[in-house]
Amino acid sequence: MSVLSGKKVLLGITAGIAAYKTANLVRLFIKSGAEVNVIMTPASKDFITPLTLSTLSKNPVHSTFYDKEDENERWNNHVELGLWADLMIVAPATANTLSKMTNGTCDNLLLATYLSAKCPVYFAPAMDLDMYQHPSTKVSIQKLKAFGNIMIPAGYGELASGLVGEGRMAEPRDIVSFIEKDIAAKLPLRGKKILITAGPTYEAIDPVRFIGNHSSGKMGFEIAKSAANQGAEVYLISGPSSQTIEHSLVKRIDVTSAEEMYNACHQYYSLVDVAIMSAAVADYRPKNKADQKIKKKDQTLTIELEPTKDILKSLGERKKEQLLIGFALETTNELENAKSKVKRKNLDLIILNSLRDAGAGFGTETNKITVIDADLKESAFELKSKKEVSKDIINIIIRQLYV
Ligand code: CTP
Repeated sequence: MSVLSGKKVLLGITAGIAAYKTANLVRLFIKSGAEVNVIMTPASKDFITPLTLSTLSKNPVHSTFYDKEDENERWNNHVELGLWADLMIVAPATANTLSKMTNGTCDNLLLATYLSAKCPVYFAPAMDLDMYQHPSTKVSIQKLKAFGNIMIPAGYGELASGLVGEGRMAEPRDIVSFIEKDIAAKLPLRGKKILITAGPTYEAIDPVRFIGNHSSGKMGFEIAKSAANQGAEVYLISGPSSQTIEHSLVKRIDVTSAEEMYNACHQYYSLVDVAIMSAAVADYRPKNKADQKIKKKDQTLTIELEPTKDILKSLGERKKEQLLIGFALETTNELENAKSKVKRKNLDLIILNSLRDAGAGFGTETNKITVIDADLKESAFELKSKKEVSKDIINIIIRQLYV
């Protein structure tokens, strides 16, 4: 999954011949999962039509401060667009627009939006080679960089004038990969490794039966996605679950029993900075697994159970630099039980769910958590989707890692 997935991209197109390439640029952003709005300077419409770009971006193209025909249109659309965007890219960025951006000129919607935008702004210059080398262009570029804007350098090659040199707008696929790499390099969990357990465990009774629980794995998978989206390399150790995950930073390790989960966790624990144990691990397993399917008989059947290893506790005992996070699913004396687990298992945080809270726990799309830290300080959260809960958990971890 691209780091651009779900991002709001504002593409500003100015009047250079390279504008014809922005159709492909919009397509690539959309393909990466981004939402795209396009702003065009009036003159850029001579190079590519708004219809092409609105069709590809699936949004109307913006180029005037307001639409005289539309009585609902308001004057402040540049502010809204600027605040809407997660990132803005001006491509192609002509010498004229670069110069205006440095001076705060805002005689078109693109420039006014640029001044309103609080997000990272990228610019991909495109012009003839002598214009690109001109001291005034160099000053513009230097100033924009000093503002914190990020340049995607022009390439070398044949230019529309027939001359050969530097000034070609970077190719759309290179623009997208430049932005992806730049975002990835700045993610707060970049360089961090996180171990996450998810789902239930199945403890075999015989070759066809097991003791399990209702955990779907949804919470753990959402945490894995949120961690990877913030740049972490994730080892996701999952019990049997129908959840799926596709992310280049997530390595999924499937296990079945508590014993297998224990072994997998210990295999990866020394490599990681953070371990989050969200799996619903069986506390007991049949003492003896029958080699053959147990046949039905008339009398009652007793299965003797023995405790499984407590994975979380064992990780707490071997903890070095890792941040160790447990989950507690409780039905009574929730806070008291969760706090005692923090101490008993040597945790940095515990995420408490109470089955008494409607919408929390197994098989639901939502969860309601209370986070308790090693000093037993509690923070209660609202009922949210598991996706939003996973983002809260990852944000707390980011804060813990960097305090
Ligand atoms: N856990 C574990 N290994 C086990 C059992 C639980 O690692 N064999 C982990 C879970 O992944 C979770 C935490 O321990 O992060 C708490 O699980 P829970 O079942 O609530 O706690 P227990 O310690 O089993 O206590 P109890 O069942 O008495 O509430």
